[in-house]
Amino acid sequence: MSGNEMKYIQEAFDTNWIAPLGTNVDKFEEELCEYVGVNHALALSSGTAGIHLALKYYGVGPGDYVFCSDLTFTGSCNPILYQYANPVFIDSEPETWNMSPVALEKAFEWAQSEDKMPKAVIIVDLYGQSADYDQLLPICRKYGVPVIEDAAEALGATYKGKKCGTFGDISIFSFNGNKIITTSGGGMVVSNDEAAIKKMRFWSTQSREIAKHYEHKEIGYNYRISNISAGIGRGQLQALEGFIKNRKENYNTYKEGLKELPLQIMPISEHGSPNYWLSVVTVNISSSITPEYIIDLLGTKNIESRPLWKPMHMQPLFSEAPMFYHMESECIGSQLFEYGICLPSGSSLTKVQQSLVLQTIDEAFLSVHQ
Ligand SMILES: Cc1ncc(COP(=O)(O)O)c(C=O)c1O
Repeated sequence: MSGNEMKYIQEAFDTNWIAPLGTNVDKFEEELCEYVGVNHALALSSGTAGIHLALKYYGVGPGDYVFCSDLTFTGSCNPILYQYANPVFIDSEPETWNMSPVALEKAFEWAQSEDKMPKAVIIVDLYGQSADYDQLLPICRKYGVPVIEDAAEALGATYKGKKCGTFGDISIFSFNGNKIITTSGGGMVVSNDEAAIKKMRFWSTQSREIAKHYEHKEIGYNYRISNISAGIGRGQLQALEGFIKNRKENYNTYKEGLKELPLQIMPISEHGSPNYWLSVVTVNISSSITPEYIIDLLGTKNIESRPLWKPMHMQPLFSEAPMFYHMESECIGSQLFEYGICLPSGSSLTKVQQSLVLQTIDEAFLSVHQ
C-alpha cells in the first residue's frame, strides 16, 4: 500500500457510499483512463470478468472459436468456456515470450481452410511486457477479427511509446492481489469504443433496464467493483510509477547477480518498456540443474518461487484445443515452462532479501558441481 488508499476508503465511509458504486469507482475509472490514454473504462470485480464481457460483446457463443495466447494464466481463457466456445492456442515467440505472429498466421490459415474463423483474438502481455503489436495487429485486421488485449499483468508497460491497454479493440487489466497494483481483487475494461463500454456496463450490473422496478430482458452479471476497493485502486494508481521503478531495480539486480550462472533472465525487447511485474529466469538446457531443484532449495529458506505459467494446451482442461506452434514441431511455451523460474519480485522486496535469493541460487549451482 502507498498511503493514500486509506484516505479514499475513509471518504467512502464518511459519505456512507460503501456500495454499490460511488465517487471512488467513477474517479478510479477516470484516473485510469487518463494514465493509460484511453477514452472509456469500466471498473469490475476481476480481470476475468472483463474478458468475459469483451467476448460477449464480440458475440462469442456456443461452438464459436477464439484464439488466445498459450503461455498465460487460465483467467485469460476460462471465459471462452463460459460462453461455450472453443479456445485455440497460439505459441510464444522467443523474443518476448508473447504471442508469435508466425503461429498466429498459421492459425488463421487453418481457420480459413476449416471454416473456423475466430470471433476474437485474446493477446496477452506476458509478465508485464508488451506483445509485438506491429506484427500481430495487421494479421488480425487482415482477417477482420477484433483483438482483446489481456494486459492484466502489464499496467504501466509501454510499446513504442504507447501504454499497454491501448492496443486491443477492448483491453483489460487485473488488480488481483498478486498484480503490480491491487484493489485486493478487481479489474478494469478499457476501450475507445464508447458503445462497447456502455453495453458491458449494462451487463455487469445484472442487465437492469431503465425502470422504477427491476426489469430484465437480457442475462446479466454481478461484476462491478465496490466503492471501497476502487478507493484502494485510486491510492495504488498514484504509487504505480514507484512500484515499476522498484521492480525494475529487482530485475537489474537479478540480471547482474546471475550473469555468471548458466541462466537467462527474461529478455526485454527494444520495442517497449515493461513494468517489470515479475523477474523470470530460464535455466540453460545444457545445465545439470533443474528449476525444481532451485525452487526447492529456495523453499528451504522460506523463499517462494514458482514455475512459469503452465501453457494452456498442456492443461487437462484444454487438452482437446487446437494449438499452433511458432516453430515446426517444438513448442516455445512448453520449453519455457520446463526451464523457467519466477523469482521473488515484489515492489517492497529489500536488498537483503534479494541477496539471500541470489546467494541461494549460487549455492544450488555450487552443490551440483561439487
Ligand atoms: C494474464 C492474466 N489474465 C487474466 C487474469 C485474471 O485476472 P483476475 O484474477 O483479476 O480475474 C490474470 C491474473 O489473475 C492474468 O495474469
